[in-house]
Amino acid sequence: MNHTTATSPIIVAIDGYSSSGKSTMARRLAAEIGYRYIDSGAMYRATALYAMRHGMTRPDGTVDARALTAAMPQIHIDFRPEPGGTQHTLLNGEDVEDEIRSMAVSSIVSPVAAIPGVRHALTAMQQSLGRDKGIVMDGRDIGTTVFPDAELKVFVKASAQTRAQRRLTELLAKGVSTNFEEVLANVVSRDHIDETREESPLRCAADAIVLDNSTMTAPEQDRWLMDQFLKTAAERP
Ligand code: CDP
Repeated sequence: MNHTTATSPIIVAIDGYSSSGKSTMARRLAAEIGYRYIDSGAMYRATALYAMRHGMTRPDGTVDARALTAAMPQIHIDFRPEPGGTQHTLLNGEDVEDEIRSMAVSSIVSPVAAIPGVRHALTAMQQSLGRDKGIVMDGRDIGTTVFPDAELKVFVKASAQTRAQRRLTELLAKGVSTNFEEVLANVVSRDHIDETREESPLRCAADAIVLDNSTMTAPEQDRWLMDQFLKTAAERP
């Protein structure tokens, strides 16, 4: 069956904790069904990088919320497709894909994402990207705030240890110098900031399907998500 043309396009929202493997499963599903994939976390990361570069972050790990909110109209984020089905994030036209995955950006991104002015601007961009549906978007608040009417919502979780180990393997493979303790501390701290912020905190939407993928392999996870998509699509008029 051709999944793309069988039914009218829907919105797939995949939320969950940091390093839970959401992005990988979201990207693979999108490629398989011919939908556009948007990594909303990359948009927060690019904004955090902009703040770092423009002297809006302080040595104590806080961010100048007022200056960054005022700068939001100057921040343009795009995605450029790459061979192999991946994509690179562009910040005002510059490819910043590697830089936004650094530990320096990871350590400041959650405070940046807690700023209401940042969230409002990025939420509006994300909603406009999904106007025509046919999109898979992953993040923290996609099913709750960005697309509360998404036809399929998934919430992914796994133990902090499992997630930190996965992220460590990924970072070491990219040649980033780090260790398990540093990655675990970052994962736990981002979870805490994301769950406790005032504006659009990380929450499981009431109508989301919860997936604990702690003991699942990547192909098992892909199959599970495809099954959910097909089920949702089959229930559509
Ligand atoms: O890939 P990982 O799960 O480590 O994080 P990410 O998806 O790249 O997102 C980085 C950070 O952006 C998160 O820790 C959140 O603080 C923030 N974020 C958010 O607040 N809302 C979203 N929709 C997506 C990301």
